[in-house]
Amino acid sequence: MAEFVRVASVSDIQPGTAREVTVRDRVLAIFNVDGKFHVLDGICPHAGGPLGEGKLQGNIMTCPWHGWQFDVTTGQHCLTPQICQQAFVCCVEGDDLLVEIPDT
Ligand code: FES
Repeated sequence: MAEFVRVASVSDIQPGTAREVTVRDRVLAIFNVDGKFHVLDGICPHAGGPLGEGKLQGNIMTCPWHGWQFDVTTGQHCLTPQICQQAFVCCVEGDDLLVEIPDT
């Protein structure tokens, strides 16, 4: 059964920034877009780059390895519609950011 898991403190991820976390063997990329959080699978589908270490501009992040870009609100690749990074449901409780981790 899927379960919400605390992954970070909200206050540690400022608007316009990203963070990589590992939860239950999953690498997740967390993005703060103007105070709203979005969470994607953190491993780039191109060659495994760390999306949580990418640059965030508005709702578009750029992978630090070769520059693939994704809309962090949907996981959609910006140029290739067939590529969509897995997105995770998240919510804020106080200063805790919780992410729904599906069963594997
Ligand atoms: S690993 Fe992300 S663009 Fe190549």
